[in-house]
Amino acid sequence: MNEVFRVAIDGPSGAGKSTIAKAVAKKLGIDYIDTGAMYRAVGYKVKQEGVDVEDTAALQAMLDSTDIDFVKGDIILDGQIVNDVIRTSEMSQMASKCSAIPAVREKLVEIQRGMGSRKSVIMDGRDIGTNVLKDAEYKIFLTASAEERAQRRHKELLEKGEAITFEEVLRDIEQRDHNDMTRKLNPLRKADDAVEVDTTGLGIDQVIEAVLKEIK
Ligand code: DC
Repeated sequence: MNEVFRVAIDGPSGAGKSTIAKAVAKKLGIDYIDTGAMYRAVGYKVKQEGVDVEDTAALQAMLDSTDIDFVKGDIILDGQIVNDVIRTSEMSQMASKCSAIPAVREKLVEIQRGMGSRKSVIMDGRDIGTNVLKDAEYKIFLTASAEERAQRRHKELLEKGEAITFEEVLRDIEQRDHNDMTRKLNPLRKADDAVEVDTTGLGIDQVIEAVLKEIK
């Protein structure tokens, strides 16, 4: 494949988007952009700086002095790699909250469109196929049951040493599904021209194969 093409992957939390997108990017030799990590980075900065998200002027001032980028797969916030500190359940909630704020979405969507305009990329998130890269050549909507998604996320968090129960993770996933699907601005939904892949009961390799089949 020589021409520039974009792959949009959307779906709810824990559907396996980042694992699959990363693997597919590697197979195709293109860049992977994790837009959820960008919302998490904003949430992290809001928390660190104690910014009141209801205070529009303060939030805008913070956003104006915020630099977010991906370099070789690392998410960089104001020059610092923040890969690990943004992956806690507290930052999941912060990201979900920040992602409903128009000024935050406006800033991040602009950066994301820039990233998707220069070279072939695979980008995952909630509004990539419906908004950020509406004209992406390939669109996949990755889903799985809430229970299965909670099981996967619970395992991940336990491995990282977080003390959290399955029920708490399930509640968190259901809460975030609700926030992501009901927010006014660019809610999570399948683009009309996206192909739905339900990963419930499938192994990682089977999902990668299913996605690659759509792209080739
Ligand atoms: O994919 P994730 O769990 O890292 O995403 C964190 C939060 O950011 C999630 O609640 C939804 C939000 N998000 C969004 O609104 N739009 C995107 N394109 C990506 C993530």
